[in-house]
Amino acid sequence: MNRRDLRDLGIISLPGDPGYGSRFKELFNSRLYIVHQRIFPDGETYIRLVEDLQDEKKVLIIQSMFPEQDRRFFEILQILDILDNYDKEIYLLILYMAYARQDKVFLKGEPVSARIIMRYITQNNRVKKIYVAEPHSDYVSKEFSKIHSINLIKIMGEILRGKGISRRMVVVSPDQGGAERAKVLSEILDTEYLVFKKYRDRYTGSIKTEAPENIELVKGRETIIVDDILSTGGTVTEVASFLKRSGSERIYVLCAHCLFVSDALNKVLSGGVNKIFCGNTVKRFVEDSRVEYFDLSNSIGSYIAENIL
Ligand code: R5P
Repeated sequence: MNRRDLRDLGIISLPGDPGYGSRFKELFNSRLYIVHQRIFPDGETYIRLVEDLQDEKKVLIIQSMFPEQDRRFFEILQILDILDNYDKEIYLLILYMAYARQDKVFLKGEPVSARIIMRYITQNNRVKKIYVAEPHSDYVSKEFSKIHSINLIKIMGEILRGKGISRRMVVVSPDQGGAERAKVLSEILDTEYLVFKKYRDRYTGSIKTEAPENIELVKGRETIIVDDILSTGGTVTEVASFLKRSGSERIYVLCAHCLFVSDALNKVLSGGVNKIFCGNTVKRFVEDSRVEYFDLSNSIGSYIAENIL
């Protein structure tokens, strides 16, 4: 992205921001406001906006809600409370939205957690737009008019294409919910895509995977599994085992939000995955030659610069 002059915009980087605040400061020529965080001995969160806001009309808050999802959510509510003291238009960038997978009542008696998050944030009248990077589903953008989704799979697909990825690679979605992601990526890479079926036991959380009928397409070819979130690695590992058994030569993973919970990385790599491409959307980076992070700050910055004005 070429440098854009957005002096009218102040940037507030919350503790979950994996570094976009300083990047945007350079890109937009904007002022970056520092937030100090402390955790009290009993576990309560304290934040403080160190410097008084200047005369910018707009502020962009940047947060990513992993790790420590609940704390990250509360920090957003805290900064909105602080901003009640100022007359600013508020924009919010959520690089990873926690609780997005609980976007419906799957079992009687459950809350819709994605709705709780957005209800609390959107009810503030000064909040004009909320940019959510690759939300799990289109639930939040359909339900709340202030929400704008940023399609990270498209951005990452273009980066991948720039690396000269082979056209013989087959794109694979691990479940029907991710079929659109696979379609988008396959169009960018100009190749075919397959969609697996995934069934989750809503009581135990365990998953069962069913391969598509045309799985033989992967024989002797490279494959790339595309997903929004890599959490425990269970989903990807399960699909990789099918692809391996069906004769896929090399298996890649492209994932917007790589959480790498507990031994996820080992699980995925020992399950036959050769390389993982991740977005830099959460403040947890693993160091391994088989994991490559794509810096998405330029593309996300461009999207916001075009949409915020
Ligand atoms: C669920 O539907 C998501 O799109 C991901 O497939 C899921 O969150 C991955 O989680 P895990 O890595 O724990 O299998």
